[in-house]
Amino acid sequence: MVNRIRKAVMPVAGLGTRFLPATKAVPKEMLTIVDRPVIQYVVDEAKEAGIEHIVFVTGRGKSTIEDHFDIQPELEETLKSRGKNAELEILAADLPPAGGVSFTRQQAPLGLGHAIWCAREIVGDEAFAVLLPDMLMRSKPGCLSQMVSAYEKHGGNVIALEETVPEMVHKYGIVALGAEDETGVEITGMVEKPKKEDAPSNFYISGRYILQPEIFSLLEKTTPGAGGEIQLTDGMKALAETQRFTGVRFTGTTFDCGAKAGFLAANVAFGMEREDIADDFKAELKKLGPDWLKGLVS
Ligand code: G1P
Repeated sequence: MVNRIRKAVMPVAGLGTRFLPATKAVPKEMLTIVDRPVIQYVVDEAKEAGIEHIVFVTGRGKSTIEDHFDIQPELEETLKSRGKNAELEILAADLPPAGGVSFTRQQAPLGLGHAIWCAREIVGDEAFAVLLPDMLMRSKPGCLSQMVSAYEKHGGNVIALEETVPEMVHKYGIVALGAEDETGVEITGMVEKPKKEDAPSNFYISGRYILQPEIFSLLEKTTPGAGGEIQLTDGMKALAETQRFTGVRFTGTTFDCGAKAGFLAANVAFGMEREDIADDFKAELKKLGPDWLKGLVS
């Protein structure tokens, strides 16, 4: 029997330079998919998988994330006085329980491995999840839930995998694959942002992890790697010398909301799924004309 995964770390310190000027005063995690911030979808995925406590690793200029996960008394009073009960219910559904979120700051942008290490005191000595909020993963059940099933069977560490093309492997952490069963595949090697010719496969680590707490002392010793940054993948590689890593092939759709095209596609996909606006949304898109649609299907 493995212990339940109760805590999740979400690194949200990044500057979001790819979305300037939108991200000059608004954190990229607060940009909206339909009418909810990107980060809310990722928090929902974590909650569905049984996560009770979320640790945000933030940086300067990210205080609106903190405000988003708190009550807003003046707004709630105004909504109450105007009888806006549906809106009040929406806010209540997204509010984490008191004490259910923590914030710590990564003081310098030293890399993903360093960001996760910043959460060590809050996570303590238990296995935990990491969700990279740029990656919006759409599936039923959610990606982290699928990984929890693999964790219950194999224990150790679990990472979500997706396949890419050789031309793109330099953007990701790439894994070597071993034996596979119905819940997951054994990871036999990992390399962060390899050249095409050095990649052990086309399978990349897609932004969801279940890690054992021993990762923290290894990250403390990890020296800068790819891009001069302290890489989580390098810490995991060291951990894999003594512990199992299982890969779960994610079967849903992933939108890289750290990139403009992925962000816009996520808005289309989630907008189409929303019963309250889908018809109006389709009518708006139709205004673009048949040539536009042809361009999509050809
Ligand atoms: C990070 C990880 C990488 C992973 C990727 C997924 O890279 O270091 O292993 O494949 O996220 O998005 P980044 O996107 O921060 O360069």
